[in-house]
Amino acid sequence: MKFDKNSKIFVAGGRGLVGSAIVKRLKDLGFKNILTPTRTELDLRRQAETEKFFAQERPDYVFLAAAKVGGILANNTYRAEFIYDNLAIALNTIDCSFKFGVKKLLNLGSSCIYPKFSPQPMKEDFLLSGKLEPTNEPYAIAKICAIKLCEAYNFQYGTNFISLMPTNLYGENDNFNLETSHVLPAMIRKFILAKALSEGNFALIREDFRLHKIGFNLDNEVDLNSQNSMIETLAKIGITKDRVTLWGSGKALREFLYVDDLADACIYFMENFSAKETEPFVNIGYGEDISIFELAELVKSIVGFTGEIYWDTTKPEGTPRKLLDITKALSLGWKPKTSLRKGITKVVAHYYSNLQSSMV
Ligand SMILES: NC(=O)c1ccc[n+]([C@@H]2O[C@H](COP(=O)([O-])OP(=O)(O)OC[C@H]3O[C@@H](n4cnc5c(N)ncnc54)[C@H](OP(=O)(O)O)[C@@H]3O)[C@@H](O)[C@H]2O)c1
Repeated sequence: MKFDKNSKIFVAGGRGLVGSAIVKRLKDLGFKNILTPTRTELDLRRQAETEKFFAQERPDYVFLAAAKVGGILANNTYRAEFIYDNLAIALNTIDCSFKFGVKKLLNLGSSCIYPKFSPQPMKEDFLLSGKLEPTNEPYAIAKICAIKLCEAYNFQYGTNFISLMPTNLYGENDNFNLETSHVLPAMIRKFILAKALSEGNFALIREDFRLHKIGFNLDNEVDLNSQNSMIETLAKIGITKDRVTLWGSGKALREFLYVDDLADACIYFMENFSAKETEPFVNIGYGEDISIFELAELVKSIVGFTGEIYWDTTKPEGTPRKLLDITKALSLGWKPKTSLRKGITKVVAHYYSNLQSSMV
């Protein structure tokens, strides 16, 4: 980074998928003064707590990667929390960054800020040009408010608060809870479990259930000493030894970016651009999409599961297509580096290595 390596940097959400990738990249670049309080240490929904933290720490730079995040099911079920938490986190962090003289803040939004039937690929200009996807409207509204907060503070107070809108992300430190996860980590875990079941590898399944929450109230129900109980639990989440059930028709098109590429973008934009140049915000994506059907076939082949895939069309699948137009990011000098196959291969290898190292 061009700014001083001794700068104090607050990575809000520093233990999450995005935040941990930013912290890793900052450390690789030689930054040592990085603050990453956990949610228990600093709940950003609480104004007084957030003000106290900023007053004590006085960070120079802030990466706002704290949020309540989840897939369709979580977004649609916990609608109140998705709007309240994300609004409160943005309000407090952005306002405190102004009040306590933060030199620059980078706010992370999401591609779901764009209308459900937006022309594709989605340009930055399409914001607020139509109705949002109903299943994640509360989350999207909070994310739109965060962009507008940054813009308003920049306009009124001359702050330097920039926003990036990433596409769907994936990476090693993802949430693999099948109830709350995004589509790609859920697929990776389901195929790994189905392969283990097809091979009768109950030791691996047991370890998987120990390491990652299953969700759907199944964690307390499953008896890890009983193979039958594990088989029954797997069946409840659509996994048998020769079949994996996935949500939707598989026809929806989605774009996925490896999280280290996003971390790279965050540091690149923090370093190289100021609010005026990037206004109102910049899309960050991979630049190509893939059908969920093709994605499932890709994950299945990387994991090496040989059974079939069943598409449960009674389940929702969200917006038909979501691809970001990344022309602006490319023109500003950033581009993605990691192919989908390479990124998924890394995540799968890491997932197995975690399971294996905790088994010994
Ligand atoms: N994942 C994606 O596919 C994706 C796509 C587009 C945009 N984004 C955006 O990227 C950002 C980060 O997402 P992520 O995927 O990294 O999420 P994540 O893995 O769920 O991490 C979220 C982080 O936020 C922290 N957090 C949540 N509530 C908090 C609170 N009340 N106070 C303080 N910290 C709180 C969590 O802290 P604890 O660890 O202590 O619980 C966690 O570190 C979000 O703004 C999201 O909208 C993500």
